[in-house]
Amino acid sequence: MEPQLGFRGRRALVTGAGKGIGRAVAAALSRAGARVTALSRTAADLESLAQECPGIEPLCLDLADWEATEAALRTAGPFELLVNNAAVALLQPFLEVTREALDRSLDVNLRSVLHVSQIVARQMIAQGVPGAIVNVSSQASQRALRDHAVYCSTKSALDMLSKVMAMELGPHKIRVNTVNPTVVMTDMGRINWSDPQKSAAMINRIPLGKFAEVDDVVNSILFLLSDKSAMTTGSSLMVDGGFLVS
Ligand SMILES: NC(=O)c1ccc[n+]([C@@H]2O[C@H](COP(=O)([O-])OP(=O)(O)OC[C@H]3O[C@@H](n4cnc5c(N)ncnc54)[C@H](OP(=O)(O)O)[C@@H]3O)[C@@H](O)[C@H]2O)c1
Repeated sequence: MEPQLGFRGRRALVTGAGKGIGRAVAAALSRAGARVTALSRTAADLESLAQECPGIEPLCLDLADWEATEAALRTAGPFELLVNNAAVALLQPFLEVTREALDRSLDVNLRSVLHVSQIVARQMIAQGVPGAIVNVSSQASQRALRDHAVYCSTKSALDMLSKVMAMELGPHKIRVNTVNPTVVMTDMGRINWSDPQKSAAMINRIPLGKFAEVDDVVNSILFLLSDKSAMTTGSSLMVDGGFLVS
């Protein structure tokens, strides 16, 4: 569906674009003619992405570093499309949650989304261009999952942050939505869901009886970035095979 989505020549920033879902979104946007800046933490991932997709602009940065983010993004924009995708999933039983895991998760999964979005939205407003922001949340924002106290909390906060952003940025013609996937077998998915007993228990709770593919999530993100969803803002699009209605 990429060619009809109107991305040609539009400038896009994708965070967490080195691996997994973010990498696939950056590649799809680039194939659809967008001018993509791919932000991630590991330089080698960005180098291989730039080789695969000539034209993608790599931006190597740890989003947990507020000052470095500010400095890098001040000169990188302006963008019309933003995908806040980078996140960490540091799973620990509630009674064993460490301050380090909590701080890192809040820094990457929540603070950086607010900060990157502020910088990019200010640039959109200054340029007077309409914009679309997609925040990559999770089914875990709306359902308690064992060992996910911190991850669930950051994604739940991300859903509400996205709604407030939609409310305040709407008058500037900037739309803000989330996608909320079920498990996807990326590096993050493999680390947390490779145990066959654990994954079978999750799949049993998904009406469609399977985990999501990376492309399922990419397609939903592209839809929410595109003018095909021009009247949609403040919404959460579940890519969960029905998990949340089960
Ligand atoms: N996979 C799932 O089952 C699943 C389910 C629901 C929602 N999600 C959400 O989908 C999004 C993408 O997940 P994924 O599965 O594609 O994850 P992934 O395979 O772990 O990839 C995450 C990417 O984000 C980058 N990143 C992480 N921390 C960063 C930081 N501080 N600064 C810059 N880049 C950073 C990583 O770079 P490094 O590797 O170099 O750190 C990596 O390139 C996340 O928001 C996740 O919460 C995933």
